[in-house]
Amino acid sequence: QELCDKCDFEEVAYLVLNGELPNKSQLKKFIKQERSERKLSKQILNDIKKMPRNAHPMDVIRTCVSLMALEDKDTKDNSPKANMRKAMRIFAKTPTAVAAYFRTRKGKSIIAPSKKLSFSENFFKMMFNKVPDKEIVRAFDISLILYAEHSFNVSTFTARTITSSLSDLHGAITGAIASLKGPLHGGANEAVMHMMKEIGKPEKAKAWIENALNKKKVVMGFGHRVYRTGDSRVPTMKHYMFKVAKLLKKEKYTRMYEILEKVMLQRKNIHPNVDFPCGPTYYMMGIDIDFYTPIFVMSRITGWSAHIMEQHASNKLIRPLSKYRGAEVREVMLLNQR
Ligand code: CMC
Repeated sequence: QELCDKCDFEEVAYLVLNGELPNKSQLKKFIKQERSERKLSKQILNDIKKMPRNAHPMDVIRTCVSLMALEDKDTKDNSPKANMRKAMRIFAKTPTAVAAYFRTRKGKSIIAPSKKLSFSENFFKMMFNKVPDKEIVRAFDISLILYAEHSFNVSTFTARTITSSLSDLHGAITGAIASLKGPLHGGANEAVMHMMKEIGKPEKAKAWIENALNKKKVVMGFGHRVYRTGDSRVPTMKHYMFKVAKLLKKEKYTRMYEILEKVMLQRKNIHPNVDFPCGPTYYMMGIDIDFYTPIFVMSRITGWSAHIMEQHASNKLIRPLSKYRGAEVREVMLLNQR
């Protein structure tokens, strides 16, 4: 919450990657570096243009990071300096890939990144060819701050596990993206919006959720493996979601939010997680639903990269044992005896 009050996303990205908030000159250097790495190669842009238009953008982005590995001169180098260079490149280039596919899929021309705009402003410009109101950009920036890092969640654990075999940063991030896609993790922000669209209007929300709970359905955007009494990121994101709704006169989503939250608390004592306010916030901004988890990726790249670098710095192979509950030991029979 304090980072959201006092910092821009770039400062938080620096913090996650470097361990401390930047001073003015460190931030200037970091921003310059990020902006200088935003462009994608012609090859990758052409690859994006050829990708199927009905593909899930998460699969496209996972593939793009994989393609970046083929071009990066540091791919095989797992030293701290090379890891930081690679992390910065993936961090800077991924929004360009997200926006390029967003526009290609709509049959629109790709917009090149600008060196004059902030991370969030540049993303809007590449998506919609315009930068929206400052309040909208700030709400987006806040969502990126809240998504940047979150300890040992599934995708971070995946990245750590891949790294622990001494594999490289591109591979670990590619695996992490696959892990984030699932609806029990990052994919929940998309699932929340599909749910709200299905409900349609606030007047239908109470009956819809009562029915879902009666049928023992999992309601997306609620619950958390770690936060049993509420996700600490929610109050901040809820505040910004409500701000955006007021500004854009789309308060039907905030009314729906209140009803769903109230019933979930009353009936199950389950609190919303950060994906609950994030999904509708992105929807009100005009972003296609299947692009919400790729936006999560754009931010979480910082957290994943920090974990990957930490793992490389002090590695131990992650190799759990599972508890076997199958048949007893048997003799191997030859094929003609089975
Ligand atoms: N809707 C309805 N019931 C729920 C929900 C939910 N969203 N979450 C938990 N419960 C119930 C669950 O059915 C179980 O009930 P019972 O004891 O009667 O069987 C009880 O609460 C305990 O849940 P659990 O499954 O043991 O909790 P878990 O720690 O395994 O699950 C979770 C955590 C996130 C997988 C789960 O809450 C869930 O599926 N939520 C919906 C998906 C979602 O929003 N995911 C985003 C997570 S946060 C952001 C991120 O990491 O990306």
